[in-house]
This record gives sequence, C-alpha cells and structure tokens, in this order.
Amino acid sequence: MLRNRRDAFGWGTIALHWSIALLIIGLIVLGYVMTRPDIDPALQFDLFQWHKSFGFTALALSAIRVIWWLANAHPAPVAGLSAFEKRASTITHWLLVGLTITVPMAGWALASTSTLGIPTFFFNRMVIPHLPMEKSAGAEAFWTNAHAILAYGLAALVLLHAAAALYHHFLRRDTVLLRMLRNERRER
Ligand code: HEM
Ligand code: HEM
Repeated sequence: MLRNRRDAFGWGTIALHWSIALLIIGLIVLGYVMTRPDIDPALQFDLFQWHKSFGFTALALSAIRVIWWLANAHPAPVAGLSAFEKRASTITHWLLVGLTITVPMAGWALASTSTLGIPTFFFNRMVIPHLPMEKSAGAEAFWTNAHAILAYGLAALVLLHAAAALYHHFLRRDTVLLRMLRNERRER
C-alpha cells in the first residue's frame, strides 16, 4: 500500500519520513563538523559542497513530502493518546515539516548572499543557481545566523520527537513507532 489509509501510514510516507530523517540528522552533524574553526580549509571546501548537495536533496524530498502530505489522508492518532499528546504531536509535526523547508532555504539564501560568490555544485554534476538576492556581508551574516539557529532548533525538536517515539514504544508499548516502520494494520 503506497498511500496512507485512515488507520495506517503507506510506504510513500514511511519511505519519505525515514530518508528525510536520515539526511537531516547527517546534515546537522556534517554542518557542525565542517564549521569548526580548526578544520583544514581544503577539507572544509569539500565538506561544504557535500553539505550543499545533500541539503538540496533534503529540500527536494521535503517539498515532495509536503505535496504527499496534502494529497494523503492523515491516519487517526493511535488509540489511548490524551488530548494533550494529540495536540503536541500535531504541532510538532507541523513544525518539523515547516523546518525541513525553511532550514535548507535559509542555507540557499546564505550561499546566494555570500560575497565570496562560490557556486553550488550538485554532486559535481551541475551548478545550482543562486537565489536572486543581493550579495553583502550583512545579508550573509544574517542568513548564516538564521540557518544555524533554525538548524539547531530543528535538531532540538527532532530529539524531542524521537524521544517521544521511543517513550511510546518502550514504556507505553503502543503502536506509535511500529506504524511508522511498517504499514500493516496492527491494533493492540
Ligand atoms: C535540511 C537541510 C540542512 C540542514 C539540517 C543544515 C544544517 C546545518 C548546520 C547544523 C550547520 C552548522 C551551523 C553552525 O554551527 O554555524 C550548517 C552550516 C551551513 N550550511 Fe546547512 N543545512 C542544511 C541545508 C543547507 C543548504 C541547502 C545549504 C546551501 C545551499 C547549506 C549551506 C550551509 C553553509 C554554507 C553552512 C556554513 C555556514 C558558515 O559559514 O558558518 N545548508 N548547516
Ligand atoms: C529529521 C528527523 C525527523 C523529521 C523531520 C520527522 C518528521 C516527522 C513528521 C512530519 C511526522 C508526521 C508524519 C509524516 O511524515 O507526514 C513524523 C511522524 C513520526 N516520526 Fe518522525 N521525524 C524525524 C525523525 C524521527 C525519528 C529519529 C524517529 C524515531 C526514533 C521518528 C519517529 C516518528 C514516528 C513514530 C512518527 C509517527 C507518529 C504518529 O503516529 O503520529 N521520527 N515525523
């Protein structure tokens, strides 16, 4: 089953969820490592290009996910969740979806406003054009800060979100995590 049902996530959602999750966790670690002040400049240049290539991949998949989200039913919450838990998970999911778009867009804006004018090579295959934004040190500093703040905000939210999933699986022993891992119907 590719599409969501009222009681289960389809493979489309599951595949998008875990590939985007993997990419974003990798990008946060890579982003942190490549911006350490003592890093070798040649290695840093390569890591920046990898970061930008995987960042655009995350942006493309996240845009597809937004369309997929709008085009699919949302499975009803697992039975037994309190009103607070339902509200908190809905808000968290909205914020996660929003940040998976705004974080790479802020990265694109920072690369576009940089006075260094370094092109973005997508996996050494093609050049991704810069956004039509004015290049200046001030704009670059603004977008660098915005990108970092949003990215670490996303990291914090992912930690909270993953902790909630593990709490449900190991302590509450419900199907919250299982239904994001396989799409058969499972009621407990
Ligand atoms: C979801 C996707 C992305 C995530 C999670 C992410 C995450 C991060 C993180 C955590 C940092 C380190 C911030 C710091 O400690 O100062 C960083 C830096 C950076 N990111 Fe991203 N990024 C993403 C997408 C992109 C994209 C699409 C681009 C460009 C096209 C980009 C360009 C950069 C650049 C150039 C830096 C270095 C900024 C500096 O000079 O300090 N990122 N990113
Ligand atoms: C960057 C990382 C992540 C992002 C952006 C993210 C985003 C989301 C979003 C938007 C949803 C709502 C359903 C949908 O995909 O449309 C969701 C559901 C879910 N996520 Fe994640 N997620 C991430 C990482 C993780 C991790 C690491 C875990 C587990 C350890 C996890 C477990 C779950 C579970 C169990 C659900 C289903 C919740 C439900 O039944 O309502 N996610 N996630």
